[in-house]
Amino acid sequence: MQNIAAIDFGTSNSTIGLMQGGKPVLLSPEDGKRAVPTALFFPHGTLGQSKPVHGNSAIRAYLNEDQGRFLRGLKSVLGTNLFDEITWAGGGTITFLEIIAAYIGWLTGIAEAETGRPITHLMLGRPVHFLTNQPEADALAEAQLRSVVASLGIPNLAFLAEPLAAAYHYEHTLTNEELALIIDIGGGTADFSLLRLGPKLAENPDRSADILATHGLRLGGAMIDQSFALAEVMPTFGMGSEIAGYTGAKGLTVPMGYFMQLTTWHRIHRMYEKATLQEVRTILNQEATEPEKLERLLTLLEERGGHRLMLDVEHAKIALSTEAETLLNLNWIEKSLALPLTQPALKTSIHGWLTTLTESIQHTLHLAGVSRSQLTTVFVTGGPSAMPLVQATIREALPTSRILVGDQLTSVGTGLVLAAHRHFSA
Ligand SMILES: Nc1ncnc2c1ncn2[C@@H]1O[C@H](COP(=O)(O)OP(=O)(O)OP(=O)(O)O)[C@@H](O)[C@H]1O
Ligand SMILES: [Mg+2]
Repeated sequence: MQNIAAIDFGTSNSTIGLMQGGKPVLLSPEDGKRAVPTALFFPHGTLGQSKPVHGNSAIRAYLNEDQGRFLRGLKSVLGTNLFDEITWAGGGTITFLEIIAAYIGWLTGIAEAETGRPITHLMLGRPVHFLTNQPEADALAEAQLRSVVASLGIPNLAFLAEPLAAAYHYEHTLTNEELALIIDIGGGTADFSLLRLGPKLAENPDRSADILATHGLRLGGAMIDQSFALAEVMPTFGMGSEIAGYTGAKGLTVPMGYFMQLTTWHRIHRMYEKATLQEVRTILNQEATEPEKLERLLTLLEERGGHRLMLDVEHAKIALSTEAETLLNLNWIEKSLALPLTQPALKTSIHGWLTTLTESIQHTLHLAGVSRSQLTTVFVTGGPSAMPLVQATIREALPTSRILVGDQLTSVGTGLVLAAHRHFSA
């Protein structure tokens, strides 16, 4: 007997869903929420016996300063050779295959508990491209996901591009045919599809003739957080601060690589390594011209607080979707330290990101051979689509289209359930 489920394995958030009573339903893996953070925490424990916690519980365990390894941004490892790296977690070593399997297996376990049977067929969403301008990485990423799913004992797997899933979710609500641009901006990637949608077309099992273009690149909320942190937060921790080189050379600054790592989720832990700490101490003691900033950096690393800082930057960014100004509290680094963050500062720091978004929209229209005036609707989904700056950029690029903002965290997941049902039951 078939048991079909669909997972939107996102960079930031994931969902698992299935059909119940003829309707697509997303399950609530924890806290009554349908979209749960793509995060894991492996508590320090006996080698091979450490059981990870998942989702919000993982974030809580990390913020609670439990001892262990916190992982987020796992999807960014797919399509790269980092996937083959062995890393430490829970008092032993583990591969990324095992880590991602621990997360996906948690989700399929929720569906199995719900249905009382093992999952036999799984539909997984995937970005149009896992990496920018590296189409060869896509086959590698799919192969890596295949091995993850095979390790869970699930025999049937299919993939669907995330913006197509969002399109099918949106199509579900239509009564007339239209030409729509679907934009799914997530934590890691922005994905575009331009297609003909409509209730009649939806019945057609092969939709390839309706898909006029797909496009995608690494342009997600995590890059917004990175640009924002680099512009507004990292200078407080010594970014750009001059150091006096051993030779007395002028114009040297604290290595930029530190700040790039500290703002890249799947690389933050590398900054906690002993050698890095030693280097920072040396700079602080011998070369720093603004030692107070290096002191903060050292405290951040000693506290293993890089993840916490980026979580706080992300929350500040989200707050700025509805508030003009917010305060980034850093008193856990230094007494009374707090940085005011404003909407104009956010706008300035992500200017390049917004320009790339505009160019990507134009590129997708060009690929489809469709002019702006021919587009009926733009359907936007994914977390960052809640940002007024993102909505304004899309409106400016497509002034005559109807712009709809979909359910930001569940559109892709719901569309995947519909597509899974269609694909596997056919
Ligand atoms: N209200 C908001 N304002 C601004 N950004 C938001 C808001 N809500 C969520 N985000 C951002 O959206 C991103 C996550 O979006 P989403 O859950 O759609 O991504 P994902 O599906 O996990 O990633 P991907 O599809 O790229 O793999 C995060 O960067 C988060 O900070
Ligand atoms: Mg997504």
